Amino acid sequence: MNRDDGGAPAEGAVPVVRGRKVEDLGSDELRALVEGATHVVADVGAGDGRTAHRLARAHPDWLVVGIDPAWTRLSATSTRAARRPEKGGAPNLVLVRAAAEALPPPLAGIADEVLVLMPWGRLLDGVVRGDPEVCGGLRALACEGASLDVTIGTSIWRPPVPVALRDLPELTPEAAGADLAPRLAAAGWALDEARLLGVAELEAGTSSWARRLDARGDERVLHLRAHAVPHPR
Ligand SMILES: C[S@@+](CC[C@H](N)C(=O)[O-])C[C@H]1O[C@@H](n2cnc3c(N)ncnc32)[C@H](O)[C@@H]1O
Repeated sequence: MNRDDGGAPAEGAVPVVRGRKVEDLGSDELRALVEGATHVVADVGAGDGRTAHRLARAHPDWLVVGIDPAWTRLSATSTRAARRPEKGGAPNLVLVRAAAEALPPPLAGIADEVLVLMPWGRLLDGVVRGDPEVCGGLRALACEGASLDVTIGTSIWRPPVPVALRDLPELTPEAAGADLAPRLAAAGWALDEARLLGVAELEAGTSSWARRLDARGDERVLHLRAHAVPHPR
């Protein structure tokens, strides 16, 4: 069924972007993809989906799931991914129309690795504040022991600060350790590391957005790394 009207998917289905349409992927089909993969990555806030596509192409035995509510930006990548592999296709890439705080239930527990690269909007706010809905949504994607990597360009806190971000407290490595870590822990994430990096130090080709920032050369990026632990009772 075509879901490009923004409607809810059929029960148990996942709304996936296929060109200019959003269609239902059945939970059984998703399960088969997960079981056939050696490693599952969820790229939340996937943007144009290019990072997820690059990862899927580089690791044909993985399943890469790109997730973003702004699904029209995923259209071009989904069209490319549908080509034959020798023409740039990636049958192991699934692009999902969803928000971190409202994920389709079949995505629960599928990911060995969760990426949140250069988020904005609700995703940025939710990660920086340790919001239970957003961090809990990210945790719901993860299997136990899964890694979480978050990168945030710190120039968002330098003048001119966008109006939408004026109330967002700056997340420094110290603030992450002191204030965010307990909130992440409450969502089932143990914070392992929080540090500032230059864009060039990020893993090659991770984020389309980081590539754009890299053109400026002086961006400092906060990198958070955590792993999924059992939820506190
Ligand atoms: C700057 S883009 C980064 C895209 C990509 N990760 C990259 O690094 O190139 C931020 C993305 O976060 C997405 N986003 C915002 N709120 C979100 C939410 N609640 N759940 C998932 N994605 C969200 C936006 O739609 C946007 O595509």
